[in-house]
Amino acid sequence: MPDAIPETTMTWHAVCGVDEIGAEDVVQIEHGDKIYAVYHTPSGFYATDGLCTHEDELLAGGLVMGEIIECPRHQGQFEIPTGEAQGTPVCVNLQTYPTKVEAGKVYIGISDSA
Ligand code: FES
Repeated sequence: MPDAIPETTMTWHAVCGVDEIGAEDVVQIEHGDKIYAVYHTPSGFYATDGLCTHEDELLAGGLVMGEIIECPRHQGQFEIPTGEAQGTPVCVNLQTYPTKVEAGKVYIGISDSA
C-alpha cells in the first residue's frame, strides 16, 4: 500500500503591489518563523527562502542581476527561478515557492506544513 500523501495546505500571502518591487529588485517578508525573499526579475516574480544556504545571510540585501541573486556576504550566487546554487561558496540550493500576480498584487504560496 502506498504511503499516504501528506496533507498540506498552501495559502497565498500578499507581499506588496507589483509596482512596489522595482525591476531587478528583491524584498524580504516574514511569515511564521521563516524569512522569504521575493524577486522581480526580467522573466517575472519569484520567491525563495530569505536566508543564504551558506551562512544564513539575508538575501534581500543582495544584488539581483537578471535571473541571479548575489548574496551580499560572500557573493555566492543562486538562479532565482530554480534556487539553484551557482558554485562556491554556495553549494546547497535555495528552496523556491510559487508566486502569482492578481489584481495588481504579488502573492507568495506558502505551505502550512513548510
Ligand atoms: S553567506 Fe551567502 S555566500 Fe556566504
